[in-house]
Amino acid sequence: MKVLIGITGCIALYKVAELVSSLRKSGHELKIVMTQSAQKLVSKDLFSAVGNCEVYTDSDAFDIRNGFIPHTELSKWPDVLVIAPATANTIAKLSYGLADNLLTMVCLAYSGDKKLLVPAMNYRMYENDATQENLRVLRNRGWWVLEPSVGHLACGEFGKGRYPENEVVQEAIEILASEKPLKNLKILVTAGPTWEPIDPVRIISNRSSGKMGYELAKTAVRLGAYVTLISGPTSLKTPYFVNEVVRVESAQEMFDAVIRKFDEVDVVIMAAAVADYTPAKISESKIKKDTEDLNIPLRKTIDILKYLGERKNNKILVGFAVETDSLEEYAKQKLMKKNLDMIVANKAEVMGSDQNSVIILKSDGTVKRVGPDEKSRIALVILSELVELRNRS
Ligand code: CTP
Repeated sequence: MKVLIGITGCIALYKVAELVSSLRKSGHELKIVMTQSAQKLVSKDLFSAVGNCEVYTDSDAFDIRNGFIPHTELSKWPDVLVIAPATANTIAKLSYGLADNLLTMVCLAYSGDKKLLVPAMNYRMYENDATQENLRVLRNRGWWVLEPSVGHLACGEFGKGRYPENEVVQEAIEILASEKPLKNLKILVTAGPTWEPIDPVRIISNRSSGKMGYELAKTAVRLGAYVTLISGPTSLKTPYFVNEVVRVESAQEMFDAVIRKFDEVDVVIMAAAVADYTPAKISESKIKKDTEDLNIPLRKTIDILKYLGERKNNKILVGFAVETDSLEEYAKQKLMKKNLDMIVANKAEVMGSDQNSVIILKSDGTVKRVGPDEKSRIALVILSELVELRNRS
């Protein structure tokens, strides 16, 4: 994707060097426009080097060579236009349609609808009615305005005005840049392990990290779906733009949360490693090590996916199968037994890793092998298969 980044004169602009570098590593083609105040803080050479790209400044604005008029040509170039950080001054100029430097000229000439603003400034400047009014105007004109975070500001004060984490900015850019084949679909994704309590301090669980489910939820948002993530306990950060996140612990809690949402959604992807057994009775106090052997009676948990398969109507159901052996054979059995449209089989040893290697089996008998690859890329393939299933139904 072609991303044009406008950089304005806010102290936080040093953080944008990392964003530029990360966008470059993700394969995006970049161009940068810096305002004069931005250049007072950091040299354009830094951004040119980390982004391996051209950096334009006001001195280029009227440097018309061979018919190349910088502001109009630059305005036609990007798939996504980003201003990060965006000062109160530039925000005000955009709101009034001023074009007094190269960046505002480019913005005024830009006719695309993928435009992102990342305000960062002192919290009083941000909260000022003038800035808030200007942001409202820009939102109404189709700018996606990211909320600044709350925290310590360069001026030493504390409040809402901090440049958000680059991860958030990059994810917003990826969302803008992506096609939206899952638009108008509501997808429920479950992720992570469950915790089955034995007593107040002990649990039975499994090695699931939740990474595959989180990647699926994040990628489904990029592709335009409205996503609810129901997550068992994980150490992962809550994905920023997932529409709803519900946290649960036990298999029973996961069942209750899934059932509450089931009627509203079009697709369920059960990536969670739900415990199959739970202690029949939870001890109210900590069990003491008084005996040599300890037997804990277990009872089967409800199979959530099977339950959904019996009440499927026209919803699409996707399961996962974690196996140590006979991967394809067991996955095929689960696909049929649970009345699924698709099942993703993977080896137990990938639990917790960033990589995965899967076999995707569909109810029409097709089989696809993917990987080894990053879980984020595997998620994209799984969701492309989902698009295919949806187009068929
Ligand atoms: N699953 C579920 N509820 C359970 C157990 C599993 O919804 N109580 C779902 C998982 O989320 C997964 C699929 O069923 O999508 C298969 O899970 P897996 O653990 O591979 O298989 P099981 O059906 O539990 O069978 P087994 O443990 O005997 O392999």
